[in-house]
Amino acid sequence: MQAKADADTMLISSRIGLGTWSIGGSMWGGTDQADAVKTIRAALELGVTLLDTAPVYGFGRAEELVGRAVAEHGSREHVVIATKAGLGWRAGTVYRDASPRRIRSDVEDSLRRLKTDYIDIYQLHWPDPLVPVEKTAAALRALYERGTIRAIGLSNVSPLEIQTFRTVAPVHVIQSPYNLFERGIENDVLPYAERHGLAVLAYGALCRGLLSGRMRPDTKFTGDDLRQSDPKFQPRRYRQYLRAVAALDGFARERYGKTVLALAVRWILDQGISAALWGARKPEQLAPIHDIFGWYLDLEARETIDRLLKETVTDPVGPDFMAPPARTTVAA
Ligand SMILES: NC(=O)c1ccc[n+]([C@@H]2O[C@H](COP(=O)([O-])OP(=O)(O)OC[C@H]3O[C@@H](n4cnc5c(N)ncnc54)[C@H](OP(=O)(O)O)[C@@H]3O)[C@@H](O)[C@H]2O)c1
Repeated sequence: MQAKADADTMLISSRIGLGTWSIGGSMWGGTDQADAVKTIRAALELGVTLLDTAPVYGFGRAEELVGRAVAEHGSREHVVIATKAGLGWRAGTVYRDASPRRIRSDVEDSLRRLKTDYIDIYQLHWPDPLVPVEKTAAALRALYERGTIRAIGLSNVSPLEIQTFRTVAPVHVIQSPYNLFERGIENDVLPYAERHGLAVLAYGALCRGLLSGRMRPDTKFTGDDLRQSDPKFQPRRYRQYLRAVAALDGFARERYGKTVLALAVRWILDQGISAALWGARKPEQLAPIHDIFGWYLDLEARETIDRLLKETVTDPVGPDFMAPPARTTVAA
């Protein structure tokens, strides 16, 4: 389950990372904090050493719960904590702010909430159209040189943004959306990361639960759950994606005796991705982790998967709906 994440920083992490967005609760219809801590501890006990979080997940709550769970688990030095900077919020509305001032205050808040004096992977959450990427890079470089952060990551960026950032500061990790239904980075970010030896963390491994196998035509989401507005979960497309899940599940069971969830995560790892970020907020959701390892998808299987996707998802849509707005429109 271990993999080297980066040659320069010598960070080693498991190939599955626990994603803590839903643990934060906001945009996910709320959270149960006791379950959340149990889930993080269960992940660590199952050998997951990479925890991905962000200040904006539950507006500080996810980081606090990660901090609490890691302290209870008691082995900070064996955990790779990946958090982020560069998003602000006001009255529950999130906006981009990758200004050096914001980054300097974000890092202090994250260290406090995470109960730690260093962050293993510190990622720009979203590029900010109002701040030149070089300025953000200089702020992150200062934290890296001081040892406050041990690796620099960029999330939701293009190869051009990565390239520009690298003129000022090193980049070790890229975090992008990547799963069986969201493969846009295959055309740009993945080849770039491969060429330049950057670790890649794939977020949304289960496509917000769609690839878990739990979703039914009448599944309902409550409160502020983002799946109420996620275009993949809207009637016409939802039917297509559910058909795809059924076809993939049938293939996984017949060929490997596995479920669609295991196939979805295995597929990410076999695409050469450093780690798949799997969001969970109940310990039992991590039970299928044992089904991910000890087998591989060969070329023929991957071609079959591509064919099944093509036959079932005739009107695909990407994850763009998640992009937060620029600061001017929200916090002027
Ligand atoms: N950098 C970025 O901009 C960015 C954006 C998105 C995500 N991420 C990172 O990537 C992580 C993963 O992405 P994600 O959380 O959006 O989505 P995900 O991993 O695709 O899906 C997470 C959801 O899938 C469901 N699920 C998980 N295991 C399950 C199981 N065994 N059975 C049934 N359902 C299961 C749960 O939904 P229910 O709890 O509702 O059942 C869970 O909250 C995030 O937590 C975050 O760390 C980063």
